[in-house]
Amino acid sequence: MATREDIYRALEGVNDPELGGNIVDLGMVSSVEVEDGVATIGIALTIAECPMRTQIEGDTRRRVAALEGIDEVVIETTAMTKAQRAELMGKARRWARDKAQPTQVAPTTRVVAVASGKGGVGKSSVSVNLALSLARSGFRVGVLDADIWGFSIPRMLGVRGPLTADDETRLIQPAHAHGISVVSTGLIIESEETALMWRGLMLSKALEQFLNQVQWGELDYLVIDLPPGTGDVQMALARMLPQAEMLVVTTPQKAAQKVAVRVADMARRSHMPVIGVVENMSSFTCEHGETYDLFGVGGGDELAADLSVPLLGRIPLDPSVVEGGDQGRPVVGNSDGGPAALAFRQLSERLVEAMPPAAAETCTGRIAKLVARMDEDLQAVNG
Ligand SMILES: Nc1ncnc2c1ncn2[C@@H]1O[C@H](COP(=O)(O)OP(=O)(O)O)[C@@H](O)[C@H]1O
Ligand SMILES: [Mg+2]
Repeated sequence: MATREDIYRALEGVNDPELGGNIVDLGMVSSVEVEDGVATIGIALTIAECPMRTQIEGDTRRRVAALEGIDEVVIETTAMTKAQRAELMGKARRWARDKAQPTQVAPTTRVVAVASGKGGVGKSSVSVNLALSLARSGFRVGVLDADIWGFSIPRMLGVRGPLTADDETRLIQPAHAHGISVVSTGLIIESEETALMWRGLMLSKALEQFLNQVQWGELDYLVIDLPPGTGDVQMALARMLPQAEMLVVTTPQKAAQKVAVRVADMARRSHMPVIGVVENMSSFTCEHGETYDLFGVGGGDELAADLSVPLLGRIPLDPSVVEGGDQGRPVVGNSDGGPAALAFRQLSERLVEAMPPAAAETCTGRIAKLVARMDEDLQAVNG
């Protein structure tokens, strides 16, 4: 059963993109109450009328609803008083000065962590096809291969290393493939010796480097291919990148679904909301139009129902997925790519609906800054 503390922790994952901090640290959460499965959350917005409001409310609702024992989320928004706003602006300024943004991932970037309980269910195939489909829709997309030792992203996107660092900033520059920014251990390791060196590194340290020392730039979406299971990397990600949300990949098989439930449990414990489920390797349709359920049926639907999240996609078993992966050209990029390509496109559309990109023109922060500056100017004139 979620406590007030759990709710505050979950809310640390809600960013005010323009102010560049989370709503708890910015002092925008005015109250949290929880009773009989109903969470009531007071949020003080810098100004009452603003398009950002919908996003902050949506993120808040999703994060809190994902907590155990919460059936309903009530959000009560108020507008800040002049004094509160001044305090917030002070905080935001200090924030910018202390470079409180802990990673190189912009606060406006939506982070989709693709997870599964076990390997071989198609996590990497989903990651690259989702990323490419998002890029084709005009979004700025990055792929972080967090499957440190089981990496397959470079092969699947047909990209080679080694990555280089910027002389001045010393930040690692991502590789580019199909218009996507890509980082993977597979693009760093050049020889067996360097591989050995890296092996000494803790997995979560490697992830930390990828988040802190890569010049990701302004991305709309960052897709993270997680290693299978519920280990260090998943926990580290939840801690370092609170805006991350998890997309769980499963097969139609009941056994796979059980493992996937464990992943979702881990996500819950680490306050990472599950955005939805993807069922991969669903029924195979042969040239004669006959359909075979090789790996069972209903696993995705059941898991989604279990977790109370939407089933965002059902990707059929399709040899073109394997081919695309081996050739470094994800199948979703082919206009005549067949049933899997179509299913991947639908998946990315539904994901964008569930997790829309941050509004390009936000106004909460901008107007609040303006008001704060006017206050200061007035004071300067009067004083
Ligand atoms: N929908 C699919 N149809 C056919 N083959 C698939 C499909 N999804 C994945 N595969 C194949 O299954 C294998 C495992 O997929 P992969 O994405 O590497 O899984 P994971 O990252 O979970 O280990 C790969 O050879 C891949 O090409
Ligand atoms: Mg993989």
